[in-house]
Amino acid sequence: MITYSKPPHPREHRLIFKNVDRQGWDTSIDCYLQDGGYEDLKKALGMEPKDITGEVKKSGLRGRGGAGFPTGMKWTFIPPNNTKPVYLICNCDESEPGTFKDRYIVHQDPHQLIEGMVISCFAVGAKIAYIYVREEFPQAAEILEKAIEDAREKNFVGKNVQGSGFDVEIYVHRGAGAYICGEETGLIESLEGKRPYPRIKPPYFPAALGLYMCPTIVNNVESLCHVKHIIRMGGDEYAKLGVPRNTGTRIIGVSGDVKKPGYFEIEVGKLTMRELLYELCGGPKDGREFKAVIPGGSSSKILRCDETFKIKGPDGSERSLDFMDIPLDFDTLAACGSMAGSGGVIVMDDSRKMSWVLNNLNSFYAHESCGQCTPCREGSMWMKKISDRIVDGDASPEDVETLESVAYQIDGKTVCAFGEASSWPVEAIIAKFREELVAETDPKNAEKPHNAESAAQRKFLAGESA
Ligand SMILES: Cc1cc2nc3c(=O)[nH]c(=O)nc-3n(C[C@H](O)[C@H](O)[C@H](O)COP(=O)(O)O)c2cc1C
Ligand code: SF4
Repeated sequence: MITYSKPPHPREHRLIFKNVDRQGWDTSIDCYLQDGGYEDLKKALGMEPKDITGEVKKSGLRGRGGAGFPTGMKWTFIPPNNTKPVYLICNCDESEPGTFKDRYIVHQDPHQLIEGMVISCFAVGAKIAYIYVREEFPQAAEILEKAIEDAREKNFVGKNVQGSGFDVEIYVHRGAGAYICGEETGLIESLEGKRPYPRIKPPYFPAALGLYMCPTIVNNVESLCHVKHIIRMGGDEYAKLGVPRNTGTRIIGVSGDVKKPGYFEIEVGKLTMRELLYELCGGPKDGREFKAVIPGGSSSKILRCDETFKIKGPDGSERSLDFMDIPLDFDTLAACGSMAGSGGVIVMDDSRKMSWVLNNLNSFYAHESCGQCTPCREGSMWMKKISDRIVDGDASPEDVETLESVAYQIDGKTVCAFGEASSWPVEAIIAKFREELVAETDPKNAEKPHNAESAAQRKFLAGESA
């Protein structure tokens, strides 16, 4: 029987986090092997690569890195008559604010990732794989380097893996320390040793024109770990977890104004917002009420906790859905105008001023824009300047309109999805909290509790000591 130092909530379903916080568990290969580790790789090596991709397609797995794109389908985008080398890249940049799952996987169960990667390499025909690790995760990089070395010693990585005739090498590449390095084409540029300027799509879809202009599959850490469980369970059995089109489990990281923040691995779509926030997270802090939630990392659009949504069903019929009844899946969150994204749920209670939330997000995106395209470079900076004015009580009511118009001038007009990532939060906060923001521009409300904090933050970003 498995025992945990921090037991999972009874509503959790742990596949990926089975070994996280497990008593007696460590990151050594011996511990992993004693628990049946690398058996799924051995099974996969006895299969045809196209059948592995077939199982991943049947499983319905959707990427856990942000966009929720079907993993098996992505793998089939490698051109069929390709003669160039194929690469696999594991995206372990995890810089999206509110997201903290990949680092736990790597810190506590690195061989799970390596096993998932070797199976995936075999499926897509990649002989070289990279793990792009966020610069701020030096310990993760060391853990992975040691795990790869140990896996090579036992012939799970390297030449003729387990006598199958399949050769594969995995390299750890330390990231360049910027949020944009997590965007897959920026990541590829960075891996090639260049400034991480994202590439324009089309034509640079990585599966066709990726690393060194060769077909490249980029997948998130959590996505690649799921592959091993799909091989063990079979695609059909895996697809019974979760709900149709939104299968399997996923790790939700909850931060902010709840009694018990943390990570929870749940079946996709099987829990509602109410269940997550009240049962798993213990509800709001004493004397407080929930005000708003960012459901999938900072780039996803904010939702009000008192909102009711009109949802269209697959047959075209319409129904109402209250915020608390939203099931945590990709499709429903998209139908509510937001997204499941990276699974980072950020909760705000009624003590939070939306101007401060807005300014906090704008400061992040203004700092992280790579500067390659004008609407994003200039727009993110102007959005921050305007929200600085709002939190400082120096804004006019028109500033809220100007801010909204800047956001719409970025959205859809940039090289990469960072443009949307920075403008969607602004569009949504203004649409949903316009009155509150406009009221803050009234001079009589100029005494702002967050002023000191925002001024300190601005000084910090400008490189001055706060
Ligand atoms: C600005 C930006 C930052 C991103 N950061 C990450 C990241 O840190 N980790 C990640 O897995 N995906 C990130 N993504 C998504 C990747 O571009 C890519 O879609 C993902 O790694 C694909 O993996 P998946 O299909 O397994 O989800 C980011 C995207 C954008 C636009
Ligand atoms: S949208 Fe922003 S982050 Fe993306 S390429 Fe343009 S300037 Fe860089």
